Amino acid sequence: MQGALGSSSRSMDKILVHGGYPLSGSIKISGSKNSALPIIAASLLTRDPCVLHRVPDLSDTNYMLQILMHLGAEVERASGTVTVKAEKVESIAPYEIVRKMRASVCVLGPLLGRCKEATVSLPGGCVIGDRPIDLHLKGFQSLGAAVRVENGNVKVFAPKLTGAIVSLRGKFGPTVLGTDNVMMAAVLAEGTTVIEGAAAEPEVCDLADFLNKMGAKIEGAGTRRIIIEGVHELHGAEHHIIPDRIETGTFLVAGAICGKGITLNRVCPGHVASVTTALTEAGYKVVTTENSISVSPNGSVPKALELVTEPYPGFPTDMQAQMCALLSTTEGISTITENVFPQRYMHLAELKRMGAQVQIEGATAIIQGVERLYGAPVMASDLRASAALVLAGLKADGVTEVRRVYHIDRGYEHLDEKLSELGAHIERVKE
Ligand code: EPU
Repeated sequence: MQGALGSSSRSMDKILVHGGYPLSGSIKISGSKNSALPIIAASLLTRDPCVLHRVPDLSDTNYMLQILMHLGAEVERASGTVTVKAEKVESIAPYEIVRKMRASVCVLGPLLGRCKEATVSLPGGCVIGDRPIDLHLKGFQSLGAAVRVENGNVKVFAPKLTGAIVSLRGKFGPTVLGTDNVMMAAVLAEGTTVIEGAAAEPEVCDLADFLNKMGAKIEGAGTRRIIIEGVHELHGAEHHIIPDRIETGTFLVAGAICGKGITLNRVCPGHVASVTTALTEAGYKVVTTENSISVSPNGSVPKALELVTEPYPGFPTDMQAQMCALLSTTEGISTITENVFPQRYMHLAELKRMGAQVQIEGATAIIQGVERLYGAPVMASDLRASAALVLAGLKADGVTEVRRVYHIDRGYEHLDEKLSELGAHIERVKE
């Protein structure tokens, strides 16, 4: 398979950002990582080929394809198009295969749906906080599955899955991959399943669209109540992955932090409304068309904001770190309260090394805007944190050296090349 190991050989690279070069021009946004991952997993639900377009070339999507190959699927990749044919499927995904990516847990639902059993190594700890899968498992149990956790593996099995009312309401709001997982198991259950407290993220809608193309009967995706009428079998389908709203948001912040005016093409403006609203409130000019967004300064000094991360359509947790970078450079005191992953603040210590003035109180970051950030060697701790450090580097005086670039390769397709296209002075070098 082409590209399966595409990014790993570059995993020890570092990115050097020479700050202070204003961005202008336009780029195209890639397909969504968080849509592609469960949609690739959903291809396990049929023996027929599934053709997926606009699959971003990322280490996470490549891991997911490797997991599918390990499970017995045939995978072909030709640039952005991936074809998966899972004629026969194993139901066991061991630690060596799934340990690299937490999202591998989303093979549980399709394997349970198709094979009526699945054993997947439990995801380990995560730098953005404790990430349990209790709600996923509770959902499977509601459908009649037994769940056993032993030797670091979770095993789910059911002679038959039966539609049921499944409540996925959690302490921190709805669960995205939990909703995906239950949906993927329930499409082949007998009878009707109603998911209450479902996640309404655009990626959940994209998965439901793909499953419906495969012959599933799902209604209500995009609301808190999803209704799934089980069918006997699914067939192959062809699908275009939606644009990545977090990549869109990240480039919007790049344009705000250091732009003369940039345009992002091939986007869904509706999916990033909370981000464009925040940027407009801060004083940037944002212009949208049906599938493009432009951001530019509007002549006034950008202002402080008070933001709270929430499930969609609220302000996304996956944009919190990037926004911390931006608000470090706007006038006044901003606050961001992280309601989805309350401990997701590893990037702040690194931003402080670049001159940001930030403190944390509980789940709230209090950010005093500064006139200048300074380039420094910094360490990426997770995907979005790494992006935030690159964004801060665009604005900073001097050179910012971002290490552990493999985090960026997990979720941004050619971030450095796209920023270069916009005029950033950024280079990728070997450690
Ligand atoms: N939660 C539970 N129990 C569960 C599942 C989740 O308590 O069984 C909690 C989590 O600990 C968290 C909250 O519920 O506090 C929401 O977590 P969720 O399950 O929605 O997260 P996820 O589905 O594992 C996806 C994205 C994340 C994104 C979150 C929130 C994928 C592959 N990942 O994760 O994306 O932050 O939703 O929107 O879709 C990223 O792309 O950088 C990323 C981390």
